[in-house]
Amino acid sequence: MDPNLLTIATTDELAEGDMKPVEIDGKRMVLARTGDAFRVFARDCPHDWADLLDGAVSNDTVWCGEHGYEFDLATGKCVTEYMSCPDLAVLPVEIKGSEVMVRL
Ligand code: FES
Repeated sequence: MDPNLLTIATTDELAEGDMKPVEIDGKRMVLARTGDAFRVFARDCPHDWADLLDGAVSNDTVWCGEHGYEFDLATGKCVTEYMSCPDLAVLPVEIKGSEVMVRL
């Protein structure tokens, strides 16, 4: 058992494009499914702290509903043209059987 792996959900809990709030190490995070991938990222947008649960996930990005910035969920980088802002915090996810685990 790897002490740095934390189970946060099972794969059947989320359909494509779903987001779910999770608390990891006392931090507000989001678990999302995009295609076959599961991603974990900070719930608060790094641009101006809007709740990304009010946005949308698609094509491995999350779109913030507040000002429309979009972030790559693999890297956390802002991918909105001509805009720059700090990276979105993302955590590595591992799937073991039906368990969705995050690496701390
Ligand atoms: S608060 Fe998210 S884009 Fe501005």
